[in-house]
Amino acid sequence: MDFGLTDKIALVAGGASGIGLECAAVLAAEGAAVVIADMDGEAAEKAAEALTGQGHAASHTVVDITDPEAVQAMADQVLGRYGRVDILVNSAGIAGDKLFVDSTLEDWRQEIDVNLIGPMLCTKVIIQNMIERENGRIITVASDSARIGQSRLSYYAAAKAGAIAFFKSLAQEVGRYKITVNVVSPSATNTPLRIEREEGFRRSMGEEAYAERVRKVLRMYPLRRLGEPEDIASAVAFLASQRASWITGQVLSVNGGFTMP
Ligand SMILES: NC(=O)c1ccc[n+]([C@@H]2O[C@H](COP(=O)([O-])OP(=O)(O)OC[C@H]3O[C@@H](n4cnc5c(N)ncnc54)[C@H](O)[C@@H]3O)[C@@H](O)[C@H]2O)c1
Repeated sequence: MDFGLTDKIALVAGGASGIGLECAAVLAAEGAAVVIADMDGEAAEKAAEALTGQGHAASHTVVDITDPEAVQAMADQVLGRYGRVDILVNSAGIAGDKLFVDSTLEDWRQEIDVNLIGPMLCTKVIIQNMIERENGRIITVASDSARIGQSRLSYYAAAKAGAIAFFKSLAQEVGRYKITVNVVSPSATNTPLRIEREEGFRRSMGEEAYAERVRKVLRMYPLRRLGEPEDIASAVAFLASQRASWITGQVLSVNGGFTMP
């Protein structure tokens, strides 16, 4: 299927690792020029170099998406260079692993800043350009924890649920400008973020209990495997494409059947 992404300009926030990195790769392979925006400048540069080495159009920019001035500088840089952003992917995110009872106000604020305010800031600096051109695709990576709740992810899930509500509302405001706004909602996906979190569980639980946890988790997935970044990136690329021009305000779980909301 031709996704019609040739010559589109795609900005991928959190594009230096995991799901964002794979989104950047798939969008670039489909013909888009990709800007990888991430607070990990070294990884972002490496990712952009890898894509250009494969003959794709890619560049990088360093940004902390919780910092309004840095986000504005990112937009100035990208719009200055390309004149437009056709596709914005919000993939940057962090997830803690504390029980609510052990968490602090600072923990909540940090997760809400990165997982909710960050995507809002990235959207705010790009949306006017999309409105003026009456064209745009905004895709945000949330989490199934926001749809069903999840122990040890309470404030993360709250931030992601906020993002879902925000982007649905935005879809209503900007549909008249032919801008679509959608959310992709993964469950457990094998990325550095998840692998690091799981390592913490393995250390605290011990090998035997952890192996039982892994078996138990897999039984929750009708397709009997966890997600890979390319599973999520395929859905993002579809929603970014011309093929998805009548889909907006939707939350697409990509999750091996883990939840069926
Ligand atoms: N991996 C999973 O199991 C899973 C499940 C559901 C949802 N998600 C969501 O998917 C998205 C991608 O996660 P991932 O698993 O690929 O994680 P990851 O850690 O591999 O990648 C996240 C990227 O975001 C960047 N980032 C973090 N904070 C940032 C900030 N303030 N400013 C700029 N960049 C920042 C990191 O440097 C990193 O490159 C996140 O929004 C996450 O919440 C992941």
